[in-house]
Amino acid sequence: MLHLRTSKSQLMSRISQKFKSPIVIFFTVLIGILLISVPPAFTKQPVVLNLLMTAPDAQTWKQTVVKDFEAKNPGIRVNVIEGPNATNLIEDMYTSAFVLGDSPYDLVNMDVIWTPKFAAAGWLMDLSDRMTKEQLSVFSPKDVDGGRYEGKLYRIPMRSDVGMLYYRKDLLKSAGFNPPETFADLLKISKALKEKDKVNWGYLWQGKQYEGLAAMFVEVLQGFGGYWVNPDTLEVGLDQPESIKAIAFLQETIQEGIAPAGVTTYQEEETRRIFQNGEAAFVRNWPYAWPLGNADDSPVKGKIAIKPMVGTPGQNGGACLGGWGLGIAKNSKHPEEAWKAIQYFTSEAAQRKFILQAGFVPSRRSLFTDPQIVAKYPHYPEILRVVDQAVLRPPIAQYAQASDILQRYLSSALTNRMNPEKAMKAAAAETKRLLKT
Ligand code: GLC
Repeated sequence: MLHLRTSKSQLMSRISQKFKSPIVIFFTVLIGILLISVPPAFTKQPVVLNLLMTAPDAQTWKQTVVKDFEAKNPGIRVNVIEGPNATNLIEDMYTSAFVLGDSPYDLVNMDVIWTPKFAAAGWLMDLSDRMTKEQLSVFSPKDVDGGRYEGKLYRIPMRSDVGMLYYRKDLLKSAGFNPPETFADLLKISKALKEKDKVNWGYLWQGKQYEGLAAMFVEVLQGFGGYWVNPDTLEVGLDQPESIKAIAFLQETIQEGIAPAGVTTYQEEETRRIFQNGEAAFVRNWPYAWPLGNADDSPVKGKIAIKPMVGTPGQNGGACLGGWGLGIAKNSKHPEEAWKAIQYFTSEAAQRKFILQAGFVPSRRSLFTDPQIVAKYPHYPEILRVVDQAVLRPPIAQYAQASDILQRYLSSALTNRMNPEKAMKAAAAETKRLLKT
């Protein structure tokens, strides 16, 4: 640029010596000044940050935080690339790009379960020095922990998430039922409402072989007092009696017609649509389903309530911690711009707007009791309590493989291709072998 400026001014002075008329000199100087003072922003292309995410998330991002960030930072553009709905498919896309090297992504929108794998593989920049303890203390500790690996920080939480039970408060009330506390209550109320022809289905859950199946199962398993992998001892609990009871409960919902047989092919969106259409009494889902269920065109608007998942007597229901955060790809050519974007996307103002639009769960604790947010989502103070008690899926570098093992055997058991005991024995043995490697 300096070299360019020098040659431009030399050129100007040569021209002005040749044409001595004052008017020519005036215009020459004016053009020279204009040439020299063109700000770099007009001569440079904006920096483009590539960011891949699930298609439903992408819409909200583009309409809210990306639009605002670009308006405040004209030199930076965020290119949101829309991927499939299932988190594990997005993970596969990031993984293949990183494995091939020279990935096109600058920002990495990461599910809470990916950090150990991505960090261990060396695909992420270490962000530990970018934030102080005080700056991190405003986020829910479990969301921050989900971004750590071997003591270093790789992901800043953008939003939290937690599995909840949705129910039709109008139907329960008119049939004289209190909200269920146990699996037995859930089955009983479901059967009664079905018998009265109030609904086609009692309880819907995510049964397809994908990550959502693992998240849903963690909750039922915890409700029965069981566990998947103990992250401290690496003990595997899948072949324990609690796990067999959890499968038996899910199977019973299908056998009794409380859930349709097709539930074993459903992801979150299929279950949400059926519930929102007024066809089911209960559904397990994440909080994003709340504003959609209460939208003006929703048949169940104003008729739904949300509560923590049920458990067994004396055992609280389980809550699976989900959530998404941002990291920077190790090979990004724009780490400073990427960090600027992360700071904005995880800021209080950006999160507030994002949440008011989409019903996602904040990662900043103050927003759970923020007057604007509580006015729209009165259940958020309770969701904070559930988030605090929620369980992380095993935070291990081999998580993707461990989850794949669970998904495969669980799906075989739920679709009657394998006996549950045999399936869980095999799942436990494979998981143990994996954890040894
Ligand atoms: C939600 C959760 C995420 C989880 C996924 C499973 O997006 O935030 O943590 O893995 O659902 O489908």
